[in-house]
Amino acid sequence: MQEAEIKDFWNRNPCGDAQVELNRQDFESFFKKYDAFRYKEEAYILQCLDQISFTDKRVLEIGLGQGADAEQLIRRGARWSGLDLTPESVARVKKRFALRKLTYEAVKQGSVLEIPFEDASFDIVFSFGVLHHVPEIKKAQREILRVLKPDGELIVMLYAKRSLNYLFSISVLRRLGLLGLYASGCRPSGVYGQHVANAHGQGLWRYLQMNNFIHRNTDGPLNPYSKVYDIAEVQRDFPDFRIVRSYKRFMHAPPLPVGWLPLAKALGWHLWVHLRPR
Ligand SMILES: C[S@@+](CC[C@H](N)C(=O)[O-])C[C@H]1O[C@@H](n2cnc3c(N)ncnc32)[C@H](O)[C@@H]1O
Repeated sequence: MQEAEIKDFWNRNPCGDAQVELNRQDFESFFKKYDAFRYKEEAYILQCLDQISFTDKRVLEIGLGQGADAEQLIRRGARWSGLDLTPESVARVKKRFALRKLTYEAVKQGSVLEIPFEDASFDIVFSFGVLHHVPEIKKAQREILRVLKPDGELIVMLYAKRSLNYLFSISVLRRLGLLGLYASGCRPSGVYGQHVANAHGQGLWRYLQMNNFIHRNTDGPLNPYSKVYDIAEVQRDFPDFRIVRSYKRFMHAPPLPVGWLPLAKALGWHLWVHLRPR
């Protein structure tokens, strides 16, 4: 898996563009709509951020998307710097900050595999929904260790393996749905049609294998790479860190309407992990 392929995917499909229509003539109203959507769907994010002390901390955020969380960290007092693989995300984040007159230290385009910041310069590295898209994760965590101060903290959100989404929706329901569509010879439009096309392109059984099917069911059917995590896997992939605490949030298992179920702590899709350098 080449990083260039991953960069190309995220540059063409910035996080959230599939949910909120982009308006290049009026970024202010786009960001307003995007943030309203994000923090209505995933209201718990703000509650989690409120539990973390960002005030006067030097924070590096890795993987910026539309910059919504970046704005939240700055508003919570972080001395914020950011890094994203794609020029599109970096441009949008700069646009957001300019429109909203937000103060920050730096925003750079680059990879977590080669972080363009000095050794031991951050109190917190924050990365939401990003590191599960990095195949060379052990190299990434070594780079994060390098830029963190020795008493610094890494805070990540990774997709949870022990979740209703992974264990039932993706592993069972969506595979059966695809089998049905494929067998019926139906070629629907949109996302489902892309899954059928993927299955024809790669071969049905190969496409349905979990180490392949998973990418196509987290961030759209063209997403080249995702991994899901339990705590043991986090410890294996972040060997230079020790886990301080972890918790799950966000009941999400599309197409099932499960957002209302009070089971997020047990079966939520978002696994938050706080780690410290060993
Ligand atoms: C799923 S989006 C999440 C963005 C944002 N944190 C959010 O929650 O909306 C993943 C982001 O990580 C970036 N990304 C992916 N691989 C990266 C890497 N190796 N280094 C830095 N950023 C990366 C992508 O360009 C994209 O903006």
